[in-house]
Amino acid sequence: MSCINGTDCKEPAKRHLALGILGLMTVIFIVLSIWSFMGPRVQAIPTEVHFGPYDAVQGKRVFQAYNCMGCHTIVGNGAYFGPDLTKTYEHVGPAWLAAFLPSAGGWPTSAAVQAQLQNAMVSAEPATTDMAAYEAQYPGAAERIRRRGGHASLMPNLPFTADEIGGLIAFLKYTSAMHNEGWPPKPKVDGLDFVQASAGTQTVSMNTASAGSTEAAPKAIDPVALGAKLVQDMGCLACHAKDQKRIIGPGWEGMVGSDTTLADGSTVKVDEAYLIEAIRHPDAQVVAGYPAGVMPSYDAMINEQDMAAIVAYLSSLKGAAK
Ligand code: HEC
Ligand code: HEC
Repeated sequence: MSCINGTDCKEPAKRHLALGILGLMTVIFIVLSIWSFMGPRVQAIPTEVHFGPYDAVQGKRVFQAYNCMGCHTIVGNGAYFGPDLTKTYEHVGPAWLAAFLPSAGGWPTSAAVQAQLQNAMVSAEPATTDMAAYEAQYPGAAERIRRRGGHASLMPNLPFTADEIGGLIAFLKYTSAMHNEGWPPKPKVDGLDFVQASAGTQTVSMNTASAGSTEAAPKAIDPVALGAKLVQDMGCLACHAKDQKRIIGPGWEGMVGSDTTLADGSTVKVDEAYLIEAIRHPDAQVVAGYPAGVMPSYDAMINEQDMAAIVAYLSSLKGAAK
């Protein structure tokens, strides 16, 4: 075998081998690529998780529109004012959520959850209309009803439509179904010392007048101190700083008595009436440079005495500048 110009006679064979291996790699690459585009094997797919006619993608939009992440986490992302919601659906089920979300300012009682079980869309999931069977299937619901049912919650009452609630339930069903390697770790709710953590507390309000004792106690509470406690308990400080720093909302120091510019270009004096409106109906007057719809309405959560305390507290934050 003589080869021209003294080239190596094994050259063509080597070239064929190299091309063969390249071809094989290409086939493997293409097969694996196609395989990776086929549905995930263990992972839940948002468009395929439904609650009644709603899917998780719709629910995710509602979740974003109401800025739930401003207070809650999903797989660790978000803010830590409210509990993590990743596995909530798994623990409490659709009937509890359907009872809680429309009136989140108060924790649902057994009767409220049972009422939801009459709804075919809700009872289709656990496939039961029987409350005892529901509680057995979702011990988290039973636990919440026993421990907190009927008491005030720290979550603001948000103005959801029925469609938005359906979407949210679908979204929370999806986050529960996500395969996330055992995350989150078991939540620890006992041993907390704030008033709402213990059963038997009537309301967020610290004022004892409603508990029947008309003497002494209410007057003994310093409104500024009560206000400071309330803004902490109600999560205002997740969005507002006590100094002038901007977090999500404007800082409070020196706010009362100053003039504030609203999104419509007008200027208003920050007095008591303005504060009450800003807290009860945040979107009625939106501060310039801040988005509307971010601050939840606290209208249903704050009674007049608590409001007076919050106003007193905000007025006390005069700051060094003023
Ligand atoms: C201003 C803060 C805030 C916002 C905004 C907020 N939440 Fe909450 N949420 C809370 C707090 C605080 C709790 C716990 C209440 C308590 O312990 O009294 C809570 C509780 C919950 C619970 C019950 C959790 C459990 O394990 O018992 C659900 C479900 C929930 N929120 C869903 C939502 C959804 C969905 C949104 C958005 C549409 C949202 N929240 C927006 C503060 C908030
Ligand atoms: C989820 C974030 C969030 C929470 C929680 C929140 N706020 Fe706000 N707040 C905002 C944003 C954003 C603005 C500015 C837009 C507007 O005016 O609605 C604002 C505006 C205000 C204003 C008007 C400020 C000004 O300079 O005119 C007051 C007063 C206020 N909030 C008080 C409170 C109180 C009191 C609480 C708790 C009971 C609270 N906020 C809870 C986000 C929040």
